[in-house]
Amino acid sequence: MEKKVVLTGIKSTGRPHVGNYIGAIKPALQLAASNEYSPYYFIADYHSLTTVQNREQFKEYVYGIAASWLALGLDPEQSTFYRQADVPEIMELSWILSCLTPKGLMNRAHAYKSAVEQNLQNSLDQDAGINIGVYSYPILMASDILLFQSDIVPVGKDQIQHVEIARDIATHFNHVFGETFPLPQYLVDTSTAVVPGLDGRKMSKSYNNTIPLFCGEKELEKLTKRIVTDSTPPQEPKDPDHSSLFLLYQEFASEDEVKQMRNNYHSGIGWGEVKRELFQVMNRYLEQPRQRYKELMSNPREIDKILHYGAEKARHEANHFLKKIKEKIGYSG
Ligand code: ADP
Ligand code: TRP
Repeated sequence: MEKKVVLTGIKSTGRPHVGNYIGAIKPALQLAASNEYSPYYFIADYHSLTTVQNREQFKEYVYGIAASWLALGLDPEQSTFYRQADVPEIMELSWILSCLTPKGLMNRAHAYKSAVEQNLQNSLDQDAGINIGVYSYPILMASDILLFQSDIVPVGKDQIQHVEIARDIATHFNHVFGETFPLPQYLVDTSTAVVPGLDGRKMSKSYNNTIPLFCGEKELEKLTKRIVTDSTPPQEPKDPDHSSLFLLYQEFASEDEVKQMRNNYHSGIGWGEVKRELFQVMNRYLEQPRQRYKELMSNPREIDKILHYGAEKARHEANHFLKKIKEKIGYSG
């Protein structure tokens, strides 16, 4: 039996942080390593153009995201790993799908809706500062998903609506032109809680509270010390299951270390010591990937080579299927 296609896109809008790793990169790499799926992982660099419009920054983010996945163990043979802009078939399908998407569906998409609401709250014109890319973002995402006949789309909670929109568009296309696209399912990993940031809120670029995955050792130590804790005295028992530090510790420590730390919480341990141990296990875990990341970042040609290789594989599939789609519509070969 053919393997199911698992596909996800990563927007290149910033330096990846520990929350991205635990919530998105790690589970995606686990799915790829399980060998049960055919994984397509790509850098959504057309999506990021809706917000990143500075050439230097744009390039740095694209390479940074690519280097992070590779440094953390993505195998370009096992997965098809590419840059969205290197697969022009995606854009072609995007136009086709635009013509099958009711405008009202885009009016209801939450990213656009919340941008409009914010404008209205600030007494601005409802569409002030909103480009058409932001508006039709979900159609491009549907195209990413449908072009590779994806079965499973691992995403964060905030992206569920976009996968549902892709299903709606696929259903409509299938109705008009006959069965063409399988309907994709989103996969939200509920086992990974939201990773808290330095201030205890969700770790996010928008809150400026992140631990960048590949910051230097010194910065990592400094940042772990800054994670907020309460003022429970060292000797008092603490609850590991409601502790940001413990949640992070669990992701990077061995099973035995986690067990030991749980006991330490119950018998009483100072936050300072927990932070020191957290730094140690994180640093141990990230040491090698950090080195590999640095090497890749100083050699963007190597990254390009890997991404081009992935794009070639992706285009091979895409070309074939796009032809079929166009034939159904009435374009002749
Ligand atoms: P940010 O909030 O920093 O802008 P993105 O929205 O670019 O991050 O998220 C990219 C991926 O990382 C998504 O799949 C998202 O669900 C995941 N992610 C981001 N922050 C966290 C977090 N704090 N905990 C768990 N997963 C996260
Ligand atoms: N919109 C997604 C995000 O902001 C990124 C993305 C683009 C994506 N295309 C995709 C995710 C296709 C899954 C499938 O995180």
